[in-house]
Amino acid sequence: MPETTWWKRGIVYQIYPRSFHDTNGDGIGDLQGISQRLDYLQWLGVDAIWISPIFPSPMADFGYDVSDYCGIDPIFGTLDDFDRVLEQAHSRNLKVILDFVPNHTSDQHPWFLESRSSRTNPKRDWYIWRDPAPGGGVPNNWISNFGGPAWEWDEATGQYYYHAFLKEQPDLNWRNPEVREAMFDSLRFWLRRGVDGFRVDVIWHLIKDAEFRNNPPNPGYQSHQAEINRYLQVHSADQPEVHDVIAAMRQVLEEYEDRVLIGEIYLPLERLVAYYGKDLSGAHLPFNFQLIQTAWNAHVIEKLVNEYEGVLPDGGWPNWVLGNHDQPRIGARIGKAQARVAAMLLLTLRGTPTMYYGDEIGMTKVEIPPESVQDPWEKNEPGLGLGRDPARTPMQWDSSPNAGFTPGEPWLPLAPDFQTCNVEVLSQDSGSILCLYRRLIDLRRRHLALSIGQYLPVQSGGQVFAYERRHGAERLLIALNFGHVSQAIDLPDRVGKARVLLSTVRSGEWHVEAGCLDLAPDEGLIVALEEG
Ligand code: NOJ
Repeated sequence: MPETTWWKRGIVYQIYPRSFHDTNGDGIGDLQGISQRLDYLQWLGVDAIWISPIFPSPMADFGYDVSDYCGIDPIFGTLDDFDRVLEQAHSRNLKVILDFVPNHTSDQHPWFLESRSSRTNPKRDWYIWRDPAPGGGVPNNWISNFGGPAWEWDEATGQYYYHAFLKEQPDLNWRNPEVREAMFDSLRFWLRRGVDGFRVDVIWHLIKDAEFRNNPPNPGYQSHQAEINRYLQVHSADQPEVHDVIAAMRQVLEEYEDRVLIGEIYLPLERLVAYYGKDLSGAHLPFNFQLIQTAWNAHVIEKLVNEYEGVLPDGGWPNWVLGNHDQPRIGARIGKAQARVAAMLLLTLRGTPTMYYGDEIGMTKVEIPPESVQDPWEKNEPGLGLGRDPARTPMQWDSSPNAGFTPGEPWLPLAPDFQTCNVEVLSQDSGSILCLYRRLIDLRRRHLALSIGQYLPVQSGGQVFAYERRHGAERLLIALNFGHVSQAIDLPDRVGKARVLLSTVRSGEWHVEAGCLDLAPDEGLIVALEEG
């Protein structure tokens, strides 16, 4: 595979379709809305869009409860609309990645309706059915990721079924070869249509302990945390056999040319990298969420980047994610000034960056009044700050009513500052975060050092994280000030000339005279170095 394969070189942009652009006035984004905004994405300069689920669904978990893997939910449009998105994206050199949700279906999926119809139904074993524990009650202590027991009693057939998420999302039994084949055929359905790859939902959950042993208690659990944290998920996920399933899934993608397999995996680094698979037979990109989960501190992030670089398997391609529809937005977490530093970090690290819609305009979080809450997790475990709605609000396109997102009533409230914080306004302001993102993306495209170059740590001090990216004779120094006061770092030895190509706070380019680089508060710099 050439070093310059699109998914190594390119930038992925996540679209949460409900919140991107609504054209039919129902307050929910749709595929025609995505089509209409492709010009914007081309202007921004990203290479691929990943669209969160658009398949038929009762929407108990907003599309992550799929009732038909080979269709489009009418809320989003039709298969024709999808084909148009694909064709129009491809004509702009944009790849299209779909969200594949293999761990569970909707409880309304015909497979589950059959499975629960009787103990002898041929699809009974497509899901995970268990008898009550010997003394009665749930089969084991596994907890749902959205709170409460992960087992739901089925009165009619006298057994429990397992659901790692909502009870409306029963887990499929991936140990059953018929399930694998049916699911792989649904992948082929989309691959034949021309999609360029998949982001696979909770891929590390697919296989559970064959004996369904109890999970051990988590000694670090605190009562303000989500209930799932009461136990360590030792037996309910990340089982050794999962890697064979992923390798088989990867083989399906290999039947087609140049497709990418991205796995959603929340695990510590040393477990995460196992998902590249034996001899890289697993996911091309096991999503790396470390930037989301790590404290925003120069030294901590520096250590993390070096650790990640160190544990990657030979030939394993890195990737970095700054936000998604399940996590607080970066702007809400670290503030507007540092969000610009974060943008520079994301787009200059070695590895494929994934951006989350709206982060490029500096969206933060939107307070959701109790009566407007949509997220089932917030409804199940209220008041703990787990709700995902604040990061899923409508994209802010312009200053017109509802930010140009919908002619109707938006499904979630808009940010109160949308009249100033939107694409139209910020694209006219060369100092905006949007223009910064665009310049970063452009620079990354023009300098191979930034996309496929080597990563080299650089000694720095204070609240600065610095590193070099190198490709051929080109050397670029990235210096990021995580602090709110000025800092200075020494330029590397034997550097004759240094020219700042981009700053997160100052405009223009300039030469650095002495051997010392000054950083303003909250400033990130990209500096071209020449030996001399
Ligand atoms: C991960 C998805 O990103 C999240 O939104 C969803 O609720 C769960 N998986 C269950 O599918």
